[in-house]
Amino acid sequence: MQRKQHLFIPGPTPVPPDVTAAMTRPVIGHRSSEFASLQRSLVAQVQKVFQTKNDLFILTSSGTGAMEAAVAATVEPGDRVLALVTGHFGNRFADIAERWGAKVERLEFTWGEPVDLAAVKAALDRGPLPKAVLATHNETSTGVVNDIAGLGALLKDTPTLLMVDAVSSMGAMDIRTDEWGVDFMITSSQKALMLPPGLAFLSVSPKAWKVIEAHKPRSYYFDLLAWRRSAEKGFSPWTPNVALLYGLEAALARLFAEGLPQVWERHRRFARLVRAGLRGMGCELLAQDAWASATVTAARTPGVDVEEVRALARREYGLSLAGGKGKLAGQILRLSHMGYVDELELLGALAVLELVLRRLGAPVAPGAGVARAEEEIFTGGGALG
Ligand SMILES: Cc1ncc(COP(=O)(O)O)c(C=O)c1O
Repeated sequence: MQRKQHLFIPGPTPVPPDVTAAMTRPVIGHRSSEFASLQRSLVAQVQKVFQTKNDLFILTSSGTGAMEAAVAATVEPGDRVLALVTGHFGNRFADIAERWGAKVERLEFTWGEPVDLAAVKAALDRGPLPKAVLATHNETSTGVVNDIAGLGALLKDTPTLLMVDAVSSMGAMDIRTDEWGVDFMITSSQKALMLPPGLAFLSVSPKAWKVIEAHKPRSYYFDLLAWRRSAEKGFSPWTPNVALLYGLEAALARLFAEGLPQVWERHRRFARLVRAGLRGMGCELLAQDAWASATVTAARTPGVDVEEVRALARREYGLSLAGGKGKLAGQILRLSHMGYVDELELLGALAVLELVLRRLGAPVAPGAGVARAEEEIFTGGGALG
């Protein structure tokens, strides 16, 4: 029998069956009034998830495309950009800005720790002010959440644009795009939004539009002025992925039926469950509770090679766990608890991980991790982050 695959990687995440079913509906023409009303309704709903009144675009690309769209629409060669790097994806944002010709200053923090606002303030005070600050809300490579509200406060009343990658947190965490003063907020479909890969989402503030309008578009596909012109008619400038938009409609219906605050609370609860379970089996968590992600947890395994753990879990139990990226390659595993996942599956994943650790010789008592996770569910646990 072909083994069932259990995805516990932080994207793509499992897709609910009703979302999959919705995507099999017949494709409609993307210049029809039917399409325009679908897109308008989806944009209005995603704006609620983003907590924004800003313009919002649904791009046919993965999240990296939206990161590139924000940079390409604003950055001129030679512009100063301050990139806050707390892990692999912070570096990616910086790389994109460099590719588009920016002079990028990377402010790097210890991987596993968040951005230190005092260091950011010091960098800004040194001047001149950068054209943009690039930040990651939820650094998927370390399981750390950064204080975007704090960053927004530092940049308020400056001309500097704040671009935020919320690819692995939007839809799972309370993200206040407008209240925090984020000019470009970015996410993608295959994470907490419970869709397959292929859509990216980008909100654009009035402050950002001023910069975009004064800038000669350099990207053709991601020309945001073209996207805005088409959006006025309810369209996108190029052929959209209609099937994924049907899926998005179903996924959003799920989020709103549960209620966004309830969805956020569920993710915090699952993070506590996973953290308790991993600690119980002797794993060392990379991020402290105070800044731990609600969607993904990174851990070092006790006395066994983490790549062997991942390989055995996948080969013999169909359990897919992510590994470390960049400088953490080969040092950590990462377990996702975002999107369409429940207690039964998380307890199962923890039980398999514990079994694999034991098989590889780690000093773990049977059930030690699962017992702690179960206790966390039973008692309701404490606060996270
Ligand atoms: C924080 C973060 N940023 C950016 C990306 C890249 O997104 P995509 O793979 O959708 O291009 C990811 C994907 O894992 C991510 O987790």
